[in-house]
Amino acid sequence: MSEKKWLTLSELEMTMRDPYPGWREIRERGPVDRIEMPGFPPQVRVFRRDDAEAVLKDEETFSARINQESMGPYMGTVLLGKDGKEHTVYRNLVSHAFRRSALERWEEELVSPTIHELLDAIAPRGHADLVPEVTSRYPVKVITGLMGVSIDDVDRFASWAEDVSGGPLNPERGLASSKAMKEYLTPIVEDRKQNPRDDLISDIVTAEIDGERLDDDHIFGFLRLLMPAGAETTYRVLGNTLLALLQNPAALERVRSDRSLVSRAIEETLRWQTSVTLVTRVAKRDTEIAGCPVHAGSVVSMMVGSANHDEHHFDRSDEWDLDRPPEPTHLSFGWGRHLCLGIHLARLELRVGVNAVLDRLPGLRLDPSKPAPEIRGHAFRGPNSLPVLFEPS
Ligand code: HEM
Repeated sequence: MSEKKWLTLSELEMTMRDPYPGWREIRERGPVDRIEMPGFPPQVRVFRRDDAEAVLKDEETFSARINQESMGPYMGTVLLGKDGKEHTVYRNLVSHAFRRSALERWEEELVSPTIHELLDAIAPRGHADLVPEVTSRYPVKVITGLMGVSIDDVDRFASWAEDVSGGPLNPERGLASSKAMKEYLTPIVEDRKQNPRDDLISDIVTAEIDGERLDDDHIFGFLRLLMPAGAETTYRVLGNTLLALLQNPAALERVRSDRSLVSRAIEETLRWQTSVTLVTRVAKRDTEIAGCPVHAGSVVSMMVGSANHDEHHFDRSDEWDLDRPPEPTHLSFGWGRHLCLGIHLARLELRVGVNAVLDRLPGLRLDPSKPAPEIRGHAFRGPNSLPVLFEPS
């Protein structure tokens, strides 16, 4: 196991730009590394795909409660922070809201109209920056739409959600926005309890299994998690997919003329440059990972981005390849008990989003007069800007 104290500023800058070469070096040295910081529990980072999958499957040894500790003060009781039976009951109660028939309705009534409305605003112009104008707004509008937030309040709601996720860094703002979010959602939740309709909040508040229902702490904990879990994660992968296609014009043309390739482009992008690069657990007891000792209480981070580039599973793993075989799968939606609950919604938004961009923006290409876009970020990765040209329509 390699040990280090902490990243220097220049190392941090490098990992923001492109952590993959550094992760490759670590994978070559050994399966895990350990970071020690005074006053914090030791952190063990897991870099290889099989080890990451094994930890995520081993609930007896590794707990997700660390997610409750970091998010709980701002979000309430979160699904991501539960283990065992408590998680099963909570997940069963919320998962019905994400059933296939609901997704089909959302596609028609919300997802497709949302992306087309965003594209309506730029299509006649012939040029745009797709991140601020389209991709970063799209999943936020979908999730707020699902929660019954009025169109006029989307920006306000999104900014509360951002403060809530940033709570550990700015607790005062995080708590104030958490309260504001709850106050906003309370009348909607109360209304759906009395007059359930065919919508997400009604499904959540009326769900009942073996006489069990969610209490308000779980209801608001779930609703506060949805934006951080579903917005930036999805819009960054959409940006990464569009960038991969724009940087590979031959692949872009293939996908444009054969739309059955859209899903392949999305899955390969999820592997090549996922938005969420790590997921975290805590060791419940002294144990080992791939023969390396791990003490009880250690924070264990599965470096999902690194696992997706593990050369034992993926040939030429740093390359984006539209023809890569679908197996083995990436770990971008996690694995096991906490596998992303929004996996089908995310894939739906990405598929509808890429198809709409291809339909509405003919001749799409990068704008050569603007700086070349870069995928950046550590925990969340994607381009902040995608300047493009296309034929106005
Ligand atoms: C490309 C987009 C997305 C990515 C890459 C992603 C990634 C992930 C990952 C890695 C996990 C597991 C975390 C862990 O094990 O600690 C997770 C869980 C979760 N995701 Fe996603 N996610 C995406 C989109 C969404 C969307 C659209 C929603 C809903 C609107 C969503 C809701 C959730 C929820 C509720 C969980 C917790 C599941 C549980 O604890 O049982 N995600 N996601």
